[in-house]
Amino acid sequence: MTATLAPSQQILTPQLEIAGGRPLSGELRVSGAKNSALVLMAASLLTEDQLRLRNVPPLTDIEGMAEILISLGVSAKRDGEALEMNGSGLSQSAPPYELVNSLRASFFCIGPLLARLGIARVPLPGGCQIGTRPVVEHVKGLKALGAQVTIEHGVVSAVVPGRGHRLKGGRIHLDCPSVGATETLMMAAALAEGETVIENAALEPEVIDLAGLLLAMGAKVRGAGTPTITIVGVDRLHGADYAVIPDRIEAGTFLLAAAITRSCLTVAPVITDHLGAVLTKLEEVGCHLDIQGTNVTISAQEIQAVDLRTQPFPGFPTDLQAPFMSLLATAQGTSVITENIFENRLQHVGELQRMGAAIRTQGNTAFIEGVSRLSGAPVQGSDLRASAAMVLAGLAAEGITTVQGLEYLDRGYADFEGKLNAVGASIRRLS
Ligand code: UD1
Repeated sequence: MTATLAPSQQILTPQLEIAGGRPLSGELRVSGAKNSALVLMAASLLTEDQLRLRNVPPLTDIEGMAEILISLGVSAKRDGEALEMNGSGLSQSAPPYELVNSLRASFFCIGPLLARLGIARVPLPGGCQIGTRPVVEHVKGLKALGAQVTIEHGVVSAVVPGRGHRLKGGRIHLDCPSVGATETLMMAAALAEGETVIENAALEPEVIDLAGLLLAMGAKVRGAGTPTITIVGVDRLHGADYAVIPDRIEAGTFLLAAAITRSCLTVAPVITDHLGAVLTKLEEVGCHLDIQGTNVTISAQEIQAVDLRTQPFPGFPTDLQAPFMSLLATAQGTSVITENIFENRLQHVGELQRMGAAIRTQGNTAFIEGVSRLSGAPVQGSDLRASAAMVLAGLAAEGITTVQGLEYLDRGYADFEGKLNAVGASIRRLS
């Protein structure tokens, strides 16, 4: 039986109210990738020319990054889906703590600031709900490029000594293939003197997207998407007009919305190579996928249990672990999920249990015994992807689910409820 929404009451905390049990149908459009757009925006610091990024999603994280760039002297202007930035006025090397504090991606500024000004002072991004998230590899790499780096009072101060304050190419071996460290070092190396080699680099599509932008700006980069990236520094980079790749995590979340509601939906645009491990798991649980170019049509009926482990790309992405767990909570049989990337990323388990899911955890592993139905309940998203997982569970649950933690959801999903309502969901934002 499908539920209906009650009249509005006075709401203190913004929340989504979801009437569960409705099948979805139609087409969902995927926005530009948040994680790519954030790092490409930081690349505007590398040039005095205009950088125009297209397909930039309207998200609070993007607005936060724009504010940080503006605080450094960059102009940033929205033009529909495009964002125009001009770094000719770059005058500051230290973004203010108040702006940086709430946005981890702000640390992306350190590489380009050092490359262009020879100095940068960026507050440590700190830990977050899902884990400690160190920047050891970023700092190690910047030192290998000749920067002197100190960390005091929560601020990373980096300076390039000597005449000209120019970084020097070097060989860097990352101890772990950190996405953020790879991207930070690519931007720093783009304007360094000589050749930089990054070994054990991250293979994520967002790294390849950054290489694409840097090439469009006149950089010399090869090997992005392989474990060894080589960058030959140039004297200056010029402006570019560049489109951000579609968001693979948003696309995966939408495919899971279809699967958990046992519906048929078309999701587009999807670069299927970016979602290989996820598409394979969706087929393993019993979904049927029809792929036509960048359109993926998914139909789901019975869902079977599967085991999965999160891994760096091309493995199963940690950012879709929580949403996939919501699906497996409704599967036939017992699934096992192992979270290998972040140490504290099973916090959604408790909330799913409130909705009737049968899940037990041991360390970083969750054992999920599928139940025939979830029941709507008030729940809280503890981070961006956990919030999305709660919304998915709410779509499938019997009755009304209210999801708090929208400050997280709005960081990574553009008009999440609007898009889902357009394909048949019943979600209301109460604020
Ligand atoms: C990026 C994504 C995030 C995603 C994550 C993993 C952005 C803005 N965010 O985060 O959505 O969940 O990749 O795919 O692109 N590590 C170290 N030392 C370091 C750096 C990282 O041990 O110096 C470890 C981390 O603790 C973590 C793992 O490496 O266990 C992955 O982290 P990393 O790839 O750096 O993630 P981010 O770039 O922060």
